[in-house]
Amino acid sequence: MNTIDRIERAVRETSHYLKRNLGTHAGKRGQTNPSDEVQTGADVWSDDLFFDALAPLDGVGNYTSEEREATVDCGDGYAIAIDPLDGSGNLASNNSVGTIVGVYESELPANGRDLVAAMMVLHGPYTTMTVARADSDVVQEYLLRDGHSERRGVFELPEDYTVVGLAGKPIDRSEAVNELAKELERDLKLRYGGATVADLAQVLEYGGLFGYPESNVYPEGKLRVHFEAAPLAYLVEAAGGASSDGGKSLLDVEPDGLHARTPTFLGNRELIDRVEAVLGSD
Ligand code: F6P
Repeated sequence: MNTIDRIERAVRETSHYLKRNLGTHAGKRGQTNPSDEVQTGADVWSDDLFFDALAPLDGVGNYTSEEREATVDCGDGYAIAIDPLDGSGNLASNNSVGTIVGVYESELPANGRDLVAAMMVLHGPYTTMTVARADSDVVQEYLLRDGHSERRGVFELPEDYTVVGLAGKPIDRSEAVNELAKELERDLKLRYGGATVADLAQVLEYGGLFGYPESNVYPEGKLRVHFEAAPLAYLVEAAGGASSDGGKSLLDVEPDGLHARTPTFLGNRELIDRVEAVLGSD
């Protein structure tokens, strides 16, 4: 078993436990995270769970989380970047949340070309884990249940695309984004749930576009490069799709700090081309 196998297993086992006990922590309030977002008790609790499972592994050099200010050094090896509970704002209304893990071969800050694996867990009506690895040609989905994981299927973005989800209020977004949203929402079904993992799962399944553009509220976009944008871009690109910050692949974004943000677009190549045609010259 190599280090990525061990990381994969630890994420899987922790996710089983997390899903079973999430309800207990859903309503409790924590402090704010380094991006100034109010933490739920579940954000802090899940971060501790993943830290305890991943930091001691052989071959893991350090652990950086969306919920912690600084990187924790834990030996020699890969750098883990994690969003332990993506979309935790969805807990109050009992909607889906996720977990995102990036495994980088260099210390952070790093760009997405240094990723060697990315994983996302969707804690939905049932729990699935999707894994892309440098040493595998396929993006594998697993079903996690009763403490076991079963291979469920392999993701390849469908050629035909049917869904779109662009975050933000029209009043806060640029004219260009609003124009693009209007065009896309004419032809595609609107799917936006407020948890990136859950929204991206729709794109992987049905084809389409998920985006969190820049806005007056989030001038650099809302999603974090290390914890969300780059690992998910790695997954989508490995599944035959594309990613962009509006001008280039999210894997080429150079984060200037651990918690750097970026406008984020993920989906079918044709739709990403349309995003870049509109925003590239913005
Ligand atoms: O981590 C940020 C996040 O929770 C994402 O998972 C999600 O896509 C986004 O925020 C939701 O933001 P908003 O509430 O602004 O739509």
